Amino acid sequence: MVEKTKSNNFILLGPPGAGKGTQAQVLSKTFELEKIDTGSLIRQAIKDETPLGLEAKKFVAQGKLVTDELVINLIIEEIERVSKENKNFLLDGFPRNLIQANALDKALQERNIELNQAISIKLDPNKLVERITGRRICTNKSCGAVYHLQFSPPKENGICDLCGSLLFQREDDKEELVQSRLNTYLSETAPLIDFYKNKGILREVDGNKKPEEVSKEILS
Ligand code: AP5
Repeated sequence: MVEKTKSNNFILLGPPGAGKGTQAQVLSKTFELEKIDTGSLIRQAIKDETPLGLEAKKFVAQGKLVTDELVINLIIEEIERVSKENKNFLLDGFPRNLIQANALDKALQERNIELNQAISIKLDPNKLVERITGRRICTNKSCGAVYHLQFSPPKENGICDLCGSLLFQREDDKEELVQSRLNTYLSETAPLIDFYKNKGILREVDGNKKPEEVSKEILS
């Protein structure tokens, strides 16, 4: 177990399929972090047909970002909840553009919370399609384990190794949406790499290696 310092608050950046969700599982366990996974929160809102979900649905279906205001409020509420419980957080999928990054800065400053590191996972764009189309996820919300048909298959087809629930494929994990999601990443999210580099808290890791090797690089 890694020793807990005063604060251990992280964000994960990277293109679709880079392995953010996979590494978030490892990091959150190792550092006892509360994982705030924006994509899952949005997908749950779509499923529950909340006002946010109804608005978000069309953007997710096109591989575009959901309206900033909706996402910012959602995530700041989550950070508020986590900080009241005196826990550290790991943001997976937020911020995703400069507007969100500035809103996060402001919200953290107002609450006297430090952001310790932004971890950017790099991935060869040629690997995106196989990573995304092969992904399967546990339907059990409190488990959420991520598998890959080829790279990390479950022991039993379609069943989660950890909790025995069924696995599912995300609606937006279609080959024809991958390019649009990548374009959104390149135009909106990639500029955050310089944003966090300028703050001196960026850490870049190579996401092309095996999951355990990527974890090792992050934890080192
Ligand atoms: P989100 O759910 O955040 O999706 P994403 O950023 O596109 O990222 P992914 O979840 O696809 O990939 P990942 O990096 O987590 O990869 P994973 O670990 O699963 O967002 C979805 C949508 O919600 C967005 O398009 C947008 O519409 C909306 N949204 C979300 N946040 C928003 C925001 N802040 N503002 C506005 N809109 C927002 O790995 C992928 C697969 O590869 C898995 O099968 C895994 O097993 C496998 N794998 C992982 N690592 C390795 C490895 N090293 N080697 C081999 N296989 C690996």
